[in-house]
Amino acid sequence: MRNFTFKALACAMSLSFAGLVQAADPIVIKFAHVVADSTPKGQGALLFKQMAEERLPGQVKVEVYPNSSLYGDGKEMEALLLGDVHMLAPSLAKFEPYAKSIQIFDLPFIFDDIHAVDRFQASPQGQALLRSMEGKGITGLAYWHNGMKQLSANKPMRLPKDARGLKFRVQASNVLDEQFKVIRANPRKMSFAEVYQGLQTGVVNGTENTWSNYFSQKVHEVQPYFTASDHGAIDYMVITNTKFWKGLPENIRSELQDVLNDVTKEVNRQADDLNREARESIVKAGTSQIIELTAQERNEWREAMKPVWKKFEAEIGKDLIDAAVASNNPDSVAASH
Ligand code: LMR
Repeated sequence: MRNFTFKALACAMSLSFAGLVQAADPIVIKFAHVVADSTPKGQGALLFKQMAEERLPGQVKVEVYPNSSLYGDGKEMEALLLGDVHMLAPSLAKFEPYAKSIQIFDLPFIFDDIHAVDRFQASPQGQALLRSMEGKGITGLAYWHNGMKQLSANKPMRLPKDARGLKFRVQASNVLDEQFKVIRANPRKMSFAEVYQGLQTGVVNGTENTWSNYFSQKVHEVQPYFTASDHGAIDYMVITNTKFWKGLPENIRSELQDVLNDVTKEVNRQADDLNREARESIVKAGTSQIIELTAQERNEWREAMKPVWKKFEAEIGKDLIDAAVASNNPDSVAASH
């Protein structure tokens, strides 16, 4: 009997010790993305790691996997839904299979500049999109800026007709596909990790992206011409697996959300500078010419691409398109709050 009691006690102690060890183990948060550390998103992910581990010492451990090193396009969402990765920040062009309305961000020339994108994201409509995929197990936590998109090609492009017949890499977005079809170019959906090689081998002749993505992927080495078109935005939604997020202890979840809010401010404050510096680095590299458009030339691109809006109006929603257009007015957020 005594022996049994002793054994039971020892067993209970070792179980509760195991419990203690377990409780002391930090929660591991895997954050994967497809771009370089030096870009706005890359910097944001690293800052999130630093601040989360500082403010929740020993309670969370954030592992950042840049450059498609854990999962690339096409696989990362699946991995998030399976719980194999806990945070992602896909570009807004990559949500079409989960929420058609998020395609609003891909409509060419809908936002005049990144400030308009920012106002739309802060608006009630923009905030509602963060929660629009919860039924599918995805929770949006924040928007991060990269910046406005520029065109690139193996020949100079001043007007939409210059793009005719060229093959362009696009993200997996039907809107972006259509954006090139309306100017009689040939879009090809391709993952981000394949862009450099696709351009180098001539599988595609051109693409669209931000200066920071171009420079960090060395796209200037394989594209002699860039057109400063600002025709759309590349921004991100920081997302998590809804079940994982709701299952976190309340104090940890709210601290992580606070950290993310602070990181978001910093990412969005720095994004412009990072893109400006990347553009200067491309100029310095001397490999490529950057073509500046006159207002009239830019307007030709706008008019040529704008029919895409109508084509996707039913899927995206007229109200949302109107709200996005309204965000070009600097007073729009104040008016809607
Ligand atoms: C892309 O062109 O696929 C990029 O938007 C990647 C990224 O996450 O910036």
